[in-house]
Amino acid sequence: MSIWPTTAVNFRKYSGRISLAEKLYFKQLLSGVDFAPDDLLASQMVNFSYLVGDFETREAVAIDPAYDIAKIAQILEEDEMQLTGVLATHYHPDHVGGDMMGHQIEGVVEVCERFDVPIHANKAELPWIVRATGIASTSIVEHESADILKVGRQEIELIHTPGHTPGSQCFYVEGRLIAGDTLFLNGCGRTDLPGGDPDEMYISIHQRLAKISDDTILFPGHLYSPDPQASMGQVRQGNYVFRLNTKDAWMQMFNA
Ligand SMILES: [Fe+2]
Repeated sequence: MSIWPTTAVNFRKYSGRISLAEKLYFKQLLSGVDFAPDDLLASQMVNFSYLVGDFETREAVAIDPAYDIAKIAQILEEDEMQLTGVLATHYHPDHVGGDMMGHQIEGVVEVCERFDVPIHANKAELPWIVRATGIASTSIVEHESADILKVGRQEIELIHTPGHTPGSQCFYVEGRLIAGDTLFLNGCGRTDLPGGDPDEMYISIHQRLAKISDDTILFPGHLYSPDPQASMGQVRQGNYVFRLNTKDAWMQMFNA
């Protein structure tokens, strides 16, 4: 959850993008456009949800489904994909549902009412998700960093990247990094919200994600840039957080 200015958005570039390459099913969906079109908060927050799966086995997971679960379910149905789970990047209501500034946002609770599927979260995020959404902790499968989740024959690596929240995690699948609010094309997630930690964010950006190659495509949790995705090489060149490459410089910016 973070409110940043959004300007010069090019809405034509992403629109429900689907990858037909080989066996990967991959959709990047924008709130207020691809789902929840009549929800002003969804339009303002410009969240991305993702659908990732195996075209051949027709299994898919939803990453950060929120605002309009019926529409996300409809997209899966139209694509003849079966939901087998949810991956949560972090606990903020614009990613997993709950109360945000007096607005009730649909999320994992509504997914579990409609589908009998588990919610996959980092173990450090579990109590935060329970508190934010009211979901039963038994609905959540706790994960460690480097866990692999299989969706059909697709393998998704879970990478723990604390800083925005204690149990924030990114997902790596076939040359794509789905980063939630850990890393945007420009900037990174806020560290001043409950559970945020600028020290941990420094380590996440400069060390925990260092193994991600430059040709990996970054898919962020919000559309805060004109483009909806970019290569990690481009992001490392253009995103100011990669220029803050000493702890002192970082803390001056984020711990002010
Ligand atoms: Fe967030």
